[in-house]
Amino acid sequence: MTITLISKMLSIAIVLCVLFVIYGFMSKLSLTFLGFTSSTKLTSLSGPPVHQWNFENATLFLPGITNRLYRQEVYSRAARHHSRHLHGPKKYHVTRRQQQINHSFRRVCYYTVPSEEWPFLQPGQIDVSLCTHIIIGFAKISGGLLAPVGEKDEVIYKEVIELKKLAPELKILLSVGGASNDLGFHSVIETLEDREEFAVNSAKYLIKMGFDGIDVDWEFPAWYRPFEERFMFQMLLQELYYVYKNPLYNLTISVAVAASKSIIDRSYRVAQMAKYVDFVSLMGYDFHSFKWYLPLTGHNSPLYPRSDEWNMFSTVNLNWTSFYWVQLGMPREKIVIGLPTYGQTYQLYNPNFHGLYAPAIGAGTVGIGGQISYPVVCQFLANGGIREFDAESRVPFAYHKRSWISYDDEQSLEEKAKWIRSNYFGGVMVFDLNCDDYNNICGNNTFPLIKSILRGLTT
Ligand SMILES: *[C@@H]1O[C@H](CO)[C@@H](O)[C@H](O)[C@H]1NC(C)=O
Ligand SMILES: *[C@@H]1O[C@H](CO)[C@@H](O)[C@H](O)[C@H]1NC(C)=O
Ligand SMILES: *[C@@H]1O[C@H](CO)[C@@H](O)[C@H](O)[C@H]1NC(C)=O
Ligand SMILES: *[C@@H]1O[C@H](CO)[C@@H](O)[C@H](O)[C@H]1NC(C)=O
Ligand SMILES: *[C@@H]1O[C@H](CO)[C@@H](O)[C@H](O)[C@H]1NC(C)=O
Repeated sequence: MTITLISKMLSIAIVLCVLFVIYGFMSKLSLTFLGFTSSTKLTSLSGPPVHQWNFENATLFLPGITNRLYRQEVYSRAARHHSRHLHGPKKYHVTRRQQQINHSFRRVCYYTVPSEEWPFLQPGQIDVSLCTHIIIGFAKISGGLLAPVGEKDEVIYKEVIELKKLAPELKILLSVGGASNDLGFHSVIETLEDREEFAVNSAKYLIKMGFDGIDVDWEFPAWYRPFEERFMFQMLLQELYYVYKNPLYNLTISVAVAASKSIIDRSYRVAQMAKYVDFVSLMGYDFHSFKWYLPLTGHNSPLYPRSDEWNMFSTVNLNWTSFYWVQLGMPREKIVIGLPTYGQTYQLYNPNFHGLYAPAIGAGTVGIGGQISYPVVCQFLANGGIREFDAESRVPFAYHKRSWISYDDEQSLEEKAKWIRSNYFGGVMVFDLNCDDYNNICGNNTFPLIKSILRGLTT
């Protein structure tokens, strides 16, 4: 009797030992896989946290391979966080600020380089009083280097940078990636040398052109790709931070990030990322658009969930996703809430069903991939479109015959800006300047949407 008990206990102990050894081996293996060599001491390094690093000793920060120690420090932290992450991410409490800080909200405006497929706004037509940051989209990574997409893009970059003469405080960033130019990221994340080289080369390019920083718009790390990219992405941001925050460069780092829970959970290590970015632009749009697997109408950018939405559907709105980012550890003042100036179109299955979650058979035929700019929305409304306002989600939609559009107007954007202000987020991002009514076609002043956001932020 006792003998069988003892042998049972022994075999359990042996199994536990074997599991323990396998676990240790796997952790070590994954660290090696992530680029940590065995010479990187993971426990004995100490020093100030990266965000408290003293930048006064500029010579220590010459980019390149001169500061192995500093980098080891950075990576040892990453390694420790990595092992913690294996036990699940830490949840941060969403606390309401007791005291309103005197916060100057960032007003980040995307500007899309003129092309035939998108509203053709010239740099000279931009109203510089609207934005604190202009982000030019989009550049790509080619051969490990930051590079323009079109031949004439650099001329446009120069023209936008010229705007700083009118507004010296304006910051101009270059966005790399975007939904269609982010294949290059794979070539610069794999090894430490690749990441380091990209950080140095891109900083030099930005300085040469006269930019104030970068906007990393990879849609999305580890998404339909190996899970390891999640860690490599964070290490790329670390490397950018290490080079860009050299006082000789002093470049801004922003990241355009996803709003959907499944992508956030897979792509980002939020609390770790927070140390290496000046701000993230939370892309608070495309929550619904026509999908063959979900052929129903829906809001492009709802502020709140509707009472008839549950489970996943109750997470696809600005309020939910913004607080999710806070909960995962991104400081509120670094969260810049992205709002659209464009709308999403649908073709209804039956014109008599024109509410929310009505059956649709496709995206609209106007616009680009079913997306339309605000002047097109105005024309739609002027030609028989009927506008309704969703009292729960706080956004309008409009329909006429088989056409159905979800969009934002002065009313919804002003409300969203007020919500940003009263919740102390870091500011507002707009995608994009091009889709606002910059030619005053709607007849309510130029850039009416962005101006309504300014009203919401200040009154
Ligand atoms: C700069 O580096 C030197 C030598 O490492 C050190 O003695 C000094 O305290 C550093 N200065 C600052 C401001 O950190
Ligand atoms: C907020 O900032 C403005 C402008 O810088 C300043 O005039 C005002 O006194 C500040 N208010 C508080 C409460 O600090
Ligand atoms: C870097 O730029 C920021 C503004 O973007 C400024 O506040 C800061 O003082 C600068 N730091 C250095 C070391 O030049
Ligand atoms: C917005 O999100 C906060 C934090 O999760 C929550 O407390 C609040 O009830 C939400 N508001 C609405 C209207 O859903
Ligand atoms: C035009 O702008 C004013 C504020 O400048 C706003 O009150 C009004 O609602 C806008 N009109 C339309 C049709 O959006």
